[in-house]
This record gives sequence, C-alpha cells and structure tokens, in this order.
Amino acid sequence: MTTIVGISGSLRTGSFNSALLRAAVAAMPQGVKLEIATIKGIPLYDGDVEAQGAPDTVVKLKERVVAGDGLLLVTPEYNNSIPGVFKNAIDWLSRPDTDIARVFGGRPVGVIGASPSRFGTLLSQTAWLPVLKTLGTAAYFGGRLQVAQAANVFDKSGNLVDDRIREQLEKYLAGFCKFVAATRHAS
Ligand code: FNR
Repeated sequence: MTTIVGISGSLRTGSFNSALLRAAVAAMPQGVKLEIATIKGIPLYDGDVEAQGAPDTVVKLKERVVAGDGLLLVTPEYNNSIPGVFKNAIDWLSRPDTDIARVFGGRPVGVIGASPSRFGTLLSQTAWLPVLKTLGTAAYFGGRLQVAQAANVFDKSGNLVDDRIREQLEKYLAGFCKFVAATRHAS
C-alpha cells in the first residue's frame, strides 16, 4: 500500500488547512492511504537545543515522513508567505544537514492550501518552491489546488461542503498519487 504523509501548517483547532487535510483523507484514490502527521509540540528551532539532541516531537515527525512514500504539505498563507510555525517544523526536519537526503531527497512533495482570501494561498505555495528545491525534493507540478474563500467551502465543524472543491481535490490527489508511484518506481 502506498502511503502519503500529510501535514497541516496551522495549529489552531478550527484551521481551514487542517480541515482540507482531513477532507483529503476521504478523497484519496483507491490503494493510497493519507496519514495525518502534526507539527504540534515542535519547539522553535534553536541550535543550542539541537546540540543536546533533537526533541522527540521532531524525531517522531521526521521518521513519519521517512516512512511515507510521499509528503503533502497543506499550507496556510501569512503575509503572502509561509507561516513561521510551518517553516520552523520543516527547518527542524532538515537537521542535521547530513540527514536531508534521507528525509527529503527525491521525495515526492505536493503543496495545497486554503485561505479566506480570494487567492487561496497562491503566494505561500509559491514561497515553498525554493525550500523544496533546496531540500532536493521531487516537487509535484502536475496540478494545483488553491482553496479560496475557505469560509464558504467548509462548514462550522470543518466539513468540506463545496462539491466543486471536492472534485478539484480528488483530481489533484489522483494526479499527485500517480506522480508518487512513478517517482518511487523510478528511484
Ligand atoms: C493571515 N491571513 C492571510 N491570508 C491570506 O490569504 N494572505 C495573507 O497574506 C495572510 N496573512 C496573514 C497573516 C497572519 C499573521 C495571519 C494570522 C493570518 C489569513 C489566513 O489565511 C487565515 O487566518 C487562515 O484561516 C489561516 O489558516 P488556518 O489556520 O485556517 O488553516
């Protein structure tokens, strides 16, 4: 069974991005499992802390990413870029740098996101590109999903209630999962 690890870049309970990730679990194509991992509990990166050994939350998240066949980042947008908490988590996973190839090298990575604005995380998704390039990932460019005006797309309990977005999500995931299978097969 192919496994994708999904991470939401928001910590808040009512997060649209966490809701989108949960909706993605239900929208996966047959034969592929999407497992939800979390950045909750990951401290701010501090080289002095790292020198004492990586925190358990970091080690756990890192090994979950390594155990998966692909990685799905579900990103909010803050000030037209990546939220600090999300970038901080990926920065931790990139340490020590001798581990980057094992964790990220050639790893298929998809980026989707949701925001209440009209642009649906266009700029934060774009801001991830140099990070994914630097880490040597195999970024997926075969599709895109920017969920705009998210307050109309999810209900108060975080359920996806927009059929058009559900279709777009299914299409994105089908393409991404094919890409994951092809990329893993080639390596
Ligand atoms: C935002 N928000 C936001 N939205 C957007 O589309 N473009 C932006 O540049 C910003 N900037 C921004 C900065 C900061 C500091 C905050 C806290 C928020 C709004 C943001 O999209 C909204 O809060 C989302 O609900 C965040 O995602 P989650 O938590 O719902 O997943």
